[in-house]
Amino acid sequence: MAVGAYAVREDRLWQRHADMAKLGGTARGGVNRQALSPEDAAARNLLATWAKARGFSVFTDAIGNLFVRREGTEPQALPVLSGSHMDSQPTGGRFDGMYGVLAAFEALEALEDAGIRTKRPLMAVAWTNEEGSRFQPGAMGSAVFAGRYRLDDMLSVKDWAGISLGDALAATLKAAPAPMREGTPGFPLASYVEAHIEQGPRLEAERQTIGVVTGIQGSRRYIVHLHGEEAHAGTTPRAARKDAFAAATRIAAAMYEETTDADDTLRFTIGRVEVQPGSPNTVPGKASFTIDMRHPSDTVLEVQEKSLLDIVSTLAGPCEGRIERVTAVAPTNFDERIVELVRTKAQILGLGHMDMPSGAGHDAMHIATLCAAGMIFVPCERGISHNEIENATPADLAAGTRVLVEVLVELANR
Ligand code: GLV
Ligand code: MN
Ligand code: MN
Repeated sequence: MAVGAYAVREDRLWQRHADMAKLGGTARGGVNRQALSPEDAAARNLLATWAKARGFSVFTDAIGNLFVRREGTEPQALPVLSGSHMDSQPTGGRFDGMYGVLAAFEALEALEDAGIRTKRPLMAVAWTNEEGSRFQPGAMGSAVFAGRYRLDDMLSVKDWAGISLGDALAATLKAAPAPMREGTPGFPLASYVEAHIEQGPRLEAERQTIGVVTGIQGSRRYIVHLHGEEAHAGTTPRAARKDAFAAATRIAAAMYEETTDADDTLRFTIGRVEVQPGSPNTVPGKASFTIDMRHPSDTVLEVQEKSLLDIVSTLAGPCEGRIERVTAVAPTNFDERIVELVRTKAQILGLGHMDMPSGAGHDAMHIATLCAAGMIFVPCERGISHNEIENATPADLAAGTRVLVEVLVELANR
């Protein structure tokens, strides 16, 4: 089959992004569509409506992953899957995750328009809770699908307001009903390819359209808990205080220092701090903060983790300090055959491309443990992401989708 025997429609793909951006749309042009919120349910309903209008089947699983299926000529053959996530950061952009879902859906539509059948079924997926901003850990739906996290453990996870994921999921599936695939999530796949905006500045700086993604760096998340003693802000002398926030700031400062590497490879972020009781004139009795730490080498992460533990035990006094590890995801190397296929298709389509690792985490890191997997990146403006001003061009989104559809067709005919 000749390259481009089916047309990816740039206008349709762009319009679908605009339609989805209304769901949880913010005044600054971004989205707040956090996992298992009413806005997430609305996005699920919209995708399902589009899918049914094209004659594709739709189903969900026990962690709420939403699948769209286009039959192949051999329905029993293992499917080829593509997609990403529709949930966003609280101040998220319109493209992070949503692009991968809509690119996969556009691939299915382009094949449908052209009347081209593949041997294997082709499926699009919207994984549940990739962001991990409301419910930790992130990339949860794909991890449960891959058997890396237990469904029951995830259902009992609570958000920052104390709402359980099980309750939020039930409410979401009530508002966005879809046929349920019974049993533990997960089924065999032939292969998986995820399209995503780069979320970093390299493609734009190098004036390339396609990032051929070779792998994903390792990441670990923690929560540091400090336990002190509440006391009167006006009367309590320094020596008598067990100020949990003071301990948190000492520890945080030492951690920033410790994680400042010469080649700027280690990523260390404290993104959420909580201080209790949160009264201006009470010495804080409790404080906690999150840590997100990433590096291409698991060994470096292991060594750094030990340093973080040491810092907490050395600097917590007079408070009690404890560090809780929420996740540890080892670095991912994508299947060389898929990496090569993405590179070749970009080349054949005449698109400037470069090999690159991913700094951000993606659902592909879990699915890569199940089957051959890879990713396709397209540029985003100034590399800005996890920000309402995140932006990408219709032409680049369409170019990445053209590579995606070529790759999917080839994989689905193998
Ligand atoms: C995904 O959003 C990540 O934090 O890498
Ligand atoms: Mn994402
Ligand atoms: Mn994200």
